Order: sequence, then C-alpha cells, then structure tokens
Amino acid sequence: MELKVPESLRLEHARFRKQLCALTEDKTDFAVAVQAVMVLFDKHSIKEETKVFPVLEVLPLLAERKTNDSMKLLQGVADEMKAGLHEELLEEHRTIVESLRGISQSAMAQNRREYVDFAECFILHAQMEEEMLYPAALVTADYLQLLNQCRISSNGYFL
Ligand SMILES: [Fe+2]
Ligand SMILES: [Fe+2]
Repeated sequence: MELKVPESLRLEHARFRKQLCALTEDKTDFAVAVQAVMVLFDKHSIKEETKVFPVLEVLPLLAERKTNDSMKLLQGVADEMKAGLHEELLEEHRTIVESLRGISQSAMAQNRREYVDFAECFILHAQMEEEMLYPAALVTADYLQLLNQCRISSNGYFL
C-alpha cells in the first residue's frame, strides 16, 4: 500500500497552482512577481508532497491505535526532517511569504483585491503548515520510529 498526501492538502495545493497560473495569465504588472512565486511554489510543494505530507496520511489510523505495512515507508522521514529538510522548507516559506507580501502591498495600492486576497490566503497556508502540519509530521514520524524501536526490541518485527 502506497502512502499518499491527504486529500484536503492535495486539493489545497492544486487550488493554489491553479490560482497562480490564472494570475500569471492576467497581463498585469503583478504577473512577473506571481510567476516567480509559482516557480518557488512548484519546487517547494513537490518536496512537501513527496517527503512530508504522506506522513500525515497515517494520522487517523494511529489515532485509532492501528498500524499497517505502509508505515514502513515512513522510516527515515524524521531523520530527514531533522537533518535539514524542515529548515529548508521554513527558509522557502520565508522567501515565498516575502514575495507574497510585496505583491499584496502593491496590489492594495492599486486596489487589485483579487491579488491581495490570494496573497493573504497563501500566507495563511504557510503559517498553518509551520504551526501545525510540519510539527504533526515530525511528531508522527518520531512516534513511528519509537514504536518501531519498541517492536524490534520486543519481537524483532517492524510494526
Ligand atoms: Fe503547502
Ligand atoms: Fe509550504
């Protein structure tokens, strides 16, 4: 069984990609700035979707105190996050959010509400990831590692 990005997150990222794309097609001064954010977000979101968010898919199962074979695929995630991936993602957020704040301020001055709303919504997404989703992924990966160590020391099997 393969682990996937939780549906709500997958759809949220898809919505941002679609909105970014639509805003770059709107031939305004903001299109260049939005294009730059789109490039940053592409690289950043692929990292999140391949390396971090699949961890969150097991949360509902763990909350019911259940485990399954697919959790083996998460070995190493906690180490990778602590070895620099977490900081890398936060750094990317800082760059993306700074660009979005710039877009929002210029758009506000020109009364382009759609850009302001988009930037605010995107900034909130990054904030939610930093406040909840990254820590949740880290705690989950750590917990699975711990669970695995306990299982190995008691019966020699992973999960
Ligand atoms: Fe994201
Ligand atoms: Fe992010």
